[in-house]
Amino acid sequence: MPELESSTVAAGEAASVERATVGDAREICDLINLWASRGQMLPRTLGETYENIRDFFVVREGGRLVGCAALHITWSDLAELKSLAVDEERQAAGYGRALAGACVAEGRALGLQRLFALTYRPGFFERLGWEQADVMSLPRKVWNECYRCPKFPGCEEIAMVLDLVSPAAGGGPGSGA
Ligand SMILES: CC(C)(COP(=O)(O)OP(=O)(O)OC[C@H]1O[C@@H](n2cnc3c(N)ncnc32)[C@H](O)[C@@H]1OP(=O)(O)O)[C@@H](O)C(=O)NCCC(=O)NCCS
Repeated sequence: MPELESSTVAAGEAASVERATVGDAREICDLINLWASRGQMLPRTLGETYENIRDFFVVREGGRLVGCAALHITWSDLAELKSLAVDEERQAAGYGRALAGACVAEGRALGLQRLFALTYRPGFFERLGWEQADVMSLPRKVWNECYRCPKFPGCEEIAMVLDLVSPAAGGGPGSGA
């Protein structure tokens, strides 16, 4: 697998995006579950976080984890950007963009054609060049994970997609990659 070029996704002078280690799992879980308790994203258990730790990128400031995001492959052409969260005291510092950019860069390096995300913050993804989509256009997601979710089919998360192939579509410089 290609190595992450952390210098190309620098989030700020004092921080850069890095791959997560198992030692990050608890802080990742705490960050996600803080936002989940406010209804902004789905909760994750520590066990799920360990199982998926290789999907994660993180941003640390002075040794403290202040952001995370995961790229989870769902099929030969498709992956989900999920568990994107930034510390509430470090919002609007460019970390969300940098984390999304790391996922986009890895999606390209892996040869994926499309990324998707389910979110209550569509404006953030639109700012990065993603487009809204019908969740039913993502059948593998719907019939795997969503189908088992207690909120299904009443989920209010909005599906966003990023085309990694078409030069006319998003995924260019604005995507953060
Ligand atoms: C959404 C979230 C990850 C954004 O992280 P962030 O580090 O604050 O965002 P950034 O500073 O990287 O912002 C990048 C751009 O998106 C814009 N933006 C950020 N949040 C936005 C929103 N809710 N609506 C519209 N635009 C937004 C910023 O203004 C910025 O634009 P600019 O580059 O032109 O200045 C963060 O607010 C968060 O952790 N929210 C709670 C958890 C959550 O909702 N996660 C998404 C679930 S998939």
